Amino acid sequence: MLNNLFPNVRPRRLRKNKIIRDLVSETRLSKSKLIQPLFVSESVAEKQPLESLQGQFLFSRNALFEEIDELLNLGIKTIALFPNISESLKDEVGTNALDEKNFVCKLVSEVKERFPEVVLITDVALDPYTISGHDGIINNGVVDNDLTLEALERMSVNLAEAGSDIIAPSDMMDGRIGVIRKALEKSDNKDTIILSYSAKYSSNFYGPFREAIGSKKTEGISKASYQMDKRNIEEALKEAELDLQEGADILMVKPGMPYLDVISKLSSNVNAPVFAYQVSGEYAMLQQAIDKKIFEHNVIPETLISLFRAGSSSVITYYAKWVAKNYDNIS
Ligand code: PBG
Repeated sequence: MLNNLFPNVRPRRLRKNKIIRDLVSETRLSKSKLIQPLFVSESVAEKQPLESLQGQFLFSRNALFEEIDELLNLGIKTIALFPNISESLKDEVGTNALDEKNFVCKLVSEVKERFPEVVLITDVALDPYTISGHDGIINNGVVDNDLTLEALERMSVNLAEAGSDIIAPSDMMDGRIGVIRKALEKSDNKDTIILSYSAKYSSNFYGPFREAIGSKKTEGISKASYQMDKRNIEEALKEAELDLQEGADILMVKPGMPYLDVISKLSSNVNAPVFAYQVSGEYAMLQQAIDKKIFEHNVIPETLISLFRAGSSSVITYYAKWVAKNYDNIS
């Protein structure tokens, strides 16, 4: 292809200075492409630092409102909410997840009332609500797919009715997107966006998140019985295609940086936006290295750019706020 070789071809011409590099750059770190996850609890009086996620917090209801206000002013407009449900509300089947007046549903309505412009993403999975910490209902020693679908259907409609702009099934049950899409249509929630965690791998990088929402103890059964096997990539394409056919609007790959090949494969093979989730373990790892001065903070944009370069349309990252705050120096 390149037959006019050196000195006719000098790639360095396009690297001469920042202005030129910016002109020809293929990807950009943009605030409008970053989503901040936030943890929230009904049972704390003020925001508490999360030990497992240095620099992140478990927010009380009021502290959450303040945080959202700050994020909006910084230019982060999309937020993924994750509840830490008190132990007393958990049971075997995650009953509280189905209550249309539960903490999250009420909170979603309140947030949307106070901040109509914020785009809210809520997770559809039972793990915050089950004693087992599993994303579904256990029956006969397994996480029962079809029983769980009924619960996810209810949960999705409730979250949509409460005002979630985007619902994000992260449970990895088979057929859930189809069931949820149908239920949303039927309940007149036609415009609710489904962001499907299509390629959610059974990963050890989720540890700090499970600590944060209190879903750590998944005794006996492994999440590998429903989340994807790390060794597979063709299967990710199959999951993605199924989800699209069932009515998903956006697909997600999770974790992020260890799965760049999957992001790349999905984004070049499916006709839908692909998001990536830079998960808690990736964040915790970076934070520790930064804390120990192994890296400077500027390693953060590099990790995010890698996700965009691989083909992510947007990224969920615990660093969204940090990027927004430091935007003038890093973009
Ligand atoms: C569960 C869920 C998990 C994450 C998002 N939704 C954890 C799990 O599957 O156990 C992980 C996110 C992170 O690690 O940052 N529905």
